[in-house]
Amino acid sequence: AWLGIDIGTSAVKVVLVDGAQAPLATATVPLSTSRPRPLWSEQHPDIWWRATLDAVAEVRRAAPDAFAAVAGIGLSGQMHGAVLLDGDDRPLRPAILWNDGRASAECAELEALVPGLGRIAGITAMPGLTAPKLLWVRRHEPELFRRIRRVMLPKDYVRLKLTGEAVTDPSDAAGSLLLDEAARAWSPALLAACGLDAGRMPRLAEGTEPAGTLSPAVAREWGFAGREIPVAGGAGDAAAGAVGIGAIADGDAFVSLGTSAQVFVTTGAYRPAPETLIHGFAHTLPGTWFQMAALLNGASTVEWAARLVGSPDIGELLARTEAGFRGPGRLLFLPYLAGERTPHDDPHARGVLFGLAPDTQPTDVMQAVLEGVALSLREARDCLEAAGTPVGRAAIIGGGARSAFWTRIIASALGIPVIRYAGSEAGPAFGAARLARIAATGEAVADVCVKPPVLDVTEPDPALHAAYGDGFVRFRRLYRALREEFR
Ligand code: XUL
Repeated sequence: AWLGIDIGTSAVKVVLVDGAQAPLATATVPLSTSRPRPLWSEQHPDIWWRATLDAVAEVRRAAPDAFAAVAGIGLSGQMHGAVLLDGDDRPLRPAILWNDGRASAECAELEALVPGLGRIAGITAMPGLTAPKLLWVRRHEPELFRRIRRVMLPKDYVRLKLTGEAVTDPSDAAGSLLLDEAARAWSPALLAACGLDAGRMPRLAEGTEPAGTLSPAVAREWGFAGREIPVAGGAGDAAAGAVGIGAIADGDAFVSLGTSAQVFVTTGAYRPAPETLIHGFAHTLPGTWFQMAALLNGASTVEWAARLVGSPDIGELLARTEAGFRGPGRLLFLPYLAGERTPHDDPHARGVLFGLAPDTQPTDVMQAVLEGVALSLREARDCLEAAGTPVGRAAIIGGGARSAFWTRIIASALGIPVIRYAGSEAGPAFGAARLARIAATGEAVADVCVKPPVLDVTEPDPALHAAYGDGFVRFRRLYRALREEFR
């Protein structure tokens, strides 16, 4: 059996997968994020480690025999987080997360320091990516910066605890803005611009390679004493999601709706297009890259809306919203609660509910939220097209994919068929388990990373697509009219 561990933002998820690729047990241990100041978003790395231990223990209790037969572990995780460790590998401060918007000034500084940065790093400098946050720490916490022994990414901190080794994979390194994406190696120019050198960075291993073995102490604790359990290079959560649904060939496209959202297309070559705000990153699979529109606000907006209208039972609120659905609503929602990367590069943007009336109901708000995210996915898809990658059909994964209603809205807003695969809401943790298997057995990527059985294909409704066309024009205008007001 294979163990996949995903260090998400809202939870650590662990899945135990058998030789026939069936998930035998899963566990989800929630995490909370702290926002101590406007624009800040942080988690202490120790909560990832504790949640990992708890989730693994839960899976072990649920399927003890299969767990005892674990032959490899794979890691996936939220990307871009700045994890700063001292000489004893202790975190120097809480990690600064992917949806943190404090480092705008440092982005401008990096662009000035490294001409052609976007071509090397696959994307322009945007707040939330790792490098500008490192410059921020250097400026605002200089004492602490001097004590940095290692710069790590979230899942790789957990690997360090599991194996004692400092390793990352190309797809997670890709999001640091410190990687030479074409060469899949640390960029000396980008490291120097941040006052760093390669000695402080983890070693790079492909996601499918073994990158350490479980330490004797952890192996004993988990009942594997005397056995060598390899830990695969793994992947950033976006690339791990791709592996999970077999998006491994040039042109394979999917929408991921987790806390954040992405429109992701695997590419057979490095295809940077930084001017479109599309991320051109190294994939976790050797010789593969991807293009990605990265949106900061995905299914998290639905949870936010349910709390706001006092309906904590999201399923019930969604069912009521669907029952009353008569086509596009009159309310418009800009989903930028945490700011936005693609297509705006605007950490100051915020959510907007526009068009409130005396008869506005909670279900109207929920529908506007589902539609606002769908329209932002449409705008992101248009960025991919501008980057030379039209998306004619796409799979959908992540927690948001559980809703057939939302999938219908997305298919119609984008005007493309949307495919749901069986089990795809397990997402990145399942992809990580596949990487564990490849690393441990040496099986071919194409043999392991097959596409799961299709659950359903949602065709766009032509009338609804036309109606959303009008909403899309207003949606785009609304953000542009308000852009200056967010500052
Ligand atoms: C991608 C991104 C998210 C995070 C959190 O650029 O920011 O995928 O990894 O899920």
